[in-house]
Amino acid sequence: MCGIVGYVGSKRVVPVIFEGLKRLEYRGYDSAGIVYLENEALVKFRCEGKLINLENHVGEAYLSSSCVGIGHTRWATHGAPTTDNAHPHSDCSGKLAIVHNGIIENYHSLREELRERGHKFTSETDTEVLAHLIEEYLEDDLVKAVRLALDRVEGSYALGVIWTEEPHTLIAARNHSPLVLGVHDEAGSFMASDIPALLPYTNRVVFLEDGELAVLTEKGHTLFSIATGEKKERGEVVIDWSASMAEKAGFRHFMLKEIFEQPQAIANTISGRVNLETGEVTLPEIGLDDQALGKIKRIFLVACGTSWHAALVAKYWIEKWARIPVEVDIASEYRYRTLIVDESVLTVAISQSGETADTLAGIRLAGKLGSRVVTICNVVGSTMTREADGTIYTHAGPEIGVASTKAFTAQLAALFLLALFLAEKKGTIDLEKRQELAKALVGIGPVVEKELPLIQEQIGTLIDSFYDCRDFLFIGRGMNFPIALEGALKLKEISYIHAEGYAAGELKHGPIALIDKEMPILAIVPRDGVYSKVISNVEEIKARQGRLVLLGSRGDTQLRTLTDDVIYLPEIHEEMNPILYTIPAQLLAYEIAARRGCDVDQPRNLAKSVTVE
Ligand code: G6P
Repeated sequence: MCGIVGYVGSKRVVPVIFEGLKRLEYRGYDSAGIVYLENEALVKFRCEGKLINLENHVGEAYLSSSCVGIGHTRWATHGAPTTDNAHPHSDCSGKLAIVHNGIIENYHSLREELRERGHKFTSETDTEVLAHLIEEYLEDDLVKAVRLALDRVEGSYALGVIWTEEPHTLIAARNHSPLVLGVHDEAGSFMASDIPALLPYTNRVVFLEDGELAVLTEKGHTLFSIATGEKKERGEVVIDWSASMAEKAGFRHFMLKEIFEQPQAIANTISGRVNLETGEVTLPEIGLDDQALGKIKRIFLVACGTSWHAALVAKYWIEKWARIPVEVDIASEYRYRTLIVDESVLTVAISQSGETADTLAGIRLAGKLGSRVVTICNVVGSTMTREADGTIYTHAGPEIGVASTKAFTAQLAALFLLALFLAEKKGTIDLEKRQELAKALVGIGPVVEKELPLIQEQIGTLIDSFYDCRDFLFIGRGMNFPIALEGALKLKEISYIHAEGYAAGELKHGPIALIDKEMPILAIVPRDGVYSKVISNVEEIKARQGRLVLLGSRGDTQLRTLTDDVIYLPEIHEEMNPILYTIPAQLLAYEIAARRGCDVDQPRNLAKSVTVE
């Protein structure tokens, strides 16, 4: 939540900051601000609402010749999303400015202390405390003052600081919030909350660790420990994403582009990891040798949001094929229950960003309890990948739309790989079955590719009837139950229609009371092992005049006898249905939200990367 950008170098800073913030707006868009150094003074602009408001407000200052500055896009935690609360924040002298992502947990007591010492506050934010605290320690050495201030702080931060008295320096620091430096031999030094902000300028990055501070100048950067002041060395990582991957490429929204990128995201995730001849899966990156595997008696899957839905599907796959008991936990709950976890448990954290605070806290806890920790993650070098014992990267490319799409199906592909890997190692499936399942996995990308335009066309015919409904139920059974949950989440988060997902068999234990002739219900009914059971549930809905939308197998004529609104999909290997049936659910949500004029890529109140608890 919140995105920060900073730059010092030879380029004009204002466009650099705006380019960066545009790519970080997915992290929050309640307000935005920028500050730069010009003629030995700070020039600051802040605005409520989206970045575009700030861009309009900045006007000709966009062309400022300044080459040092910082910017921020906010997801409000402390204080309403007003201009006064927007970052950057300043000290009393107005000579120091700061942008911050995170939460200063002891801000209240620090604020009282600083007030007593005469500091004047102009916002309700926790961040402003930091500006005044640094001022309190500031004599002639900014690094020293920032270190002393951070020593007093409890909580999380990624921050950028500039000061008029050291006009060629930018300070970056992090603790429990993501921060990455961008390296360029001629242009200077960059910092940002996430890699896409740097991509227009460089793909050479350095990840800051918790408790580290970096001094950035036009010539490069130096890393220090905040606690000891000791210098640190860290190698660069070259990222294989390009700036154009984080652009819309002619699509109306990032979400639609990302839906259509799914065949590629799945193919990239599987590529080089599965052998069709032997059905063998290679995942050396998780470091699970036979001895380590022998110890594993249970698996915990821990995740939030859409990633949690991927975990729910994976439970079916792993238990069925590898015959290892799996527990699935929402990360924010996992942390606060009595956990029976030790070295016999493999913990798998699933996260697109690798930065979600609750999931991160979950894996730290699991690690402390002796569990081996593997992440399934989309962002190279993110905190979870650095803290886990091993990572299976999904290679979905940067995902910008706040509602996760391609990251989800890529996670499913990675989790299926994991299930096959475990099954093979445990000897729970034979060669023939391995080959069959590997073939099914490799085949799903091309099926999705072929079907995407057809599904979009079929969804188009439903929009007039359903775009203005107030509620929507989604039902599925077995491994398609999590897809019902995901369909409902997609719809509610981007269209603001109230939507719920239920296990189809559970409907009669309560939700059926909601059904009348106004209530739309989408049922996932492929011809699979539970087909006739779901059909019975659908009949129960029809008997109560619910407005049915059915997702089912091409050629299944029975579906048309139940409703006119049927989306047909090809009959494929049953195990791959969760991936295929996700596509119409995503497109239904997208088309309804677009038709309602909603801000699809940046839905209200949400942020893509939730780095606060
Ligand atoms: C936020 C996003 C969701 C995402 C969830 C988990 O709520 O809006 O789209 O599924 O975080 O994020 P992660 O990066 O851990 O997968």
